Amino acid sequence: MSPPAIATTTKTLNTGAEIPVIALGTWESAPDDAYKAVLAALKDGYRHIDTAWIYGNEVPVGKAIREAGVPREEIFVTTKLWLDNFHDPAKGLETSLKNLGLDYVDLYLMHWPFALDENGKVDSTIDFVKGYANMQKLDKSKAKAIGVSNFDIKNLTTLLEAESTTTVPATNQVELHVKLPQQKLIDFCHSNGIVVEAYSPLGRGDLDNEVLESIAKKHNTGVANVVISWGIFRDTVVLPKSVTPARIKSNLDYIKLDADDINTINEIHIKEGTRRHCNFGKDKGVTVFHADEN
Ligand code: A2P
Repeated sequence: MSPPAIATTTKTLNTGAEIPVIALGTWESAPDDAYKAVLAALKDGYRHIDTAWIYGNEVPVGKAIREAGVPREEIFVTTKLWLDNFHDPAKGLETSLKNLGLDYVDLYLMHWPFALDENGKVDSTIDFVKGYANMQKLDKSKAKAIGVSNFDIKNLTTLLEAESTTTVPATNQVELHVKLPQQKLIDFCHSNGIVVEAYSPLGRGDLDNEVLESIAKKHNTGVANVVISWGIFRDTVVLPKSVTPARIKSNLDYIKLDADDINTINEIHIKEGTRRHCNFGKDKGVTVFHADEN
């Protein structure tokens, strides 16, 4: 029996809402490409689209969502609060909703755990705890769930232990792939009822790997399908990005990996080394991933 289609398989958020376990990622998708990619994805059966204000593509992403012919309530839409709106997340949300042309998003994430001022410099007048406290006051009819992104265990612990935190983040969206599996972070999130979302699940297209190729060959599938299936097996929501119609479609082909495959994939980062592609905090002089940098 073939496994259920991953496009329609969901996990339950701590709000009770269902989140499809696979989404189309749109980071670095140029506006016109993003528009076409979202239209193609929704036609292929995706029901989860991930964007962010900083990606600069909310307008075409929203246009495609509105034009795809799929009822809005069947699509799970995520966007993210940029760091210059920690003082007033409602303003950031309004801007994003206007860009998207939508009345609400299903999930609104704090994009990184530090604030920036209007000049792009670190804003030390507000931290992520206060910024998140402000997010908790958002109109729930406009942001159905709130969560965080790029939080490590240290920052999540600080957030969860803060007196002002009354809403546990619904998700933590982080970079996760075979070279950066972060199992301890996943376990920590799960033990706190936080769904983990994997961005760059394909290692940003770094799929040229003999170990993965042999597993793909064994299952008569592609390397991307192997790593997406591994991400789903790990109980994470995966957000592969593509602007290529054939890849968007084929990334929905899920396979059932066996225990040997899983063990082999789990060891890739030990044998080949870890790799983090995105550390915007470091670029700004802020330590965001403490275990990496201490
Ligand atoms: P493209 O968008 O040109 O199709 P990640 O999701 O880890 O950030 O990876 C995104 C990168 O992986 C993009 O360069 C994307 O290229 C590429 N990609 C997406 N799907 C596949 C696939 N099935 N096979 C190979 N490369 C892929």
